[in-house]
Amino acid sequence: MDLSIEKGFALRNRTFTIALAAAATLALGACTKEQPYQIDLPMKELMGHVIDPAAWTFWRTTGWVDDETGTHNRLPTTEEGWLAAETGAVTVAEGANLLMLPGRREDDGDWMKIAKQLYDASMESRQAVIDRDEQKMFDTGGKMYEACVACHAKYLLPKLPPEERDATFAPLPEVAPKDKGATLMKVPAEPPK
Ligand code: HEC
Repeated sequence: MDLSIEKGFALRNRTFTIALAAAATLALGACTKEQPYQIDLPMKELMGHVIDPAAWTFWRTTGWVDDETGTHNRLPTTEEGWLAAETGAVTVAEGANLLMLPGRREDDGDWMKIAKQLYDASMESRQAVIDRDEQKMFDTGGKMYEACVACHAKYLLPKLPPEERDATFAPLPEVAPKDKGATLMKVPAEPPK
């Protein structure tokens, strides 16, 4: 047998083995790096279907309304109502985590800071519900709202054409009864049953 051929084969064989090993390592690498979560839902839908309705589930139970008979708070009046308010708050908090996922977040700086602000405000809102604290619910709801606005101001509005920048997307604040010195949120209609 010609030695050089045998050596050539051995070498090729070795190269092939190395190539295989490299492919296996790559595959393994890809495997361990594979995301265990899915981020297919576009940001617009995450906002419209998850974050926004959850925020309103909480917000609509806060603040005060004026009518001919005086100023009334909008606190829940049943256990079910309180539970819904709490559910709204924790859903926004967990929604804030979804905003932070790699692939969703737009940067590691302000985006993360604002999302964390939203998380904290939402968890404080939950605590305010648990405490049945009317003023705290209003204040923490305001903090939640500020986080929404801060993120939109930086990451959404600049991308819109100038004529759409005073955007008509929710949440839109409304002026509250003067004596409360507060700002009321515009409350969308109850979701259809
Ligand atoms: C960390 C950033 C961030 C935070 C916090 C945030 N948003 Fe958004 N939001 C966005 C971005 C980005 C868009 C634009 C998505 C698109 O159109 O691609 C958006 C869009 C929206 C829209 C428009 C959806 C549509 O149908 O066009 C609504 C409504 C909305 N957000 C509500 C909220 C509310 C309510 C909060 C707070 C409780 C909030 N967002 C907090 C980033 C954020």
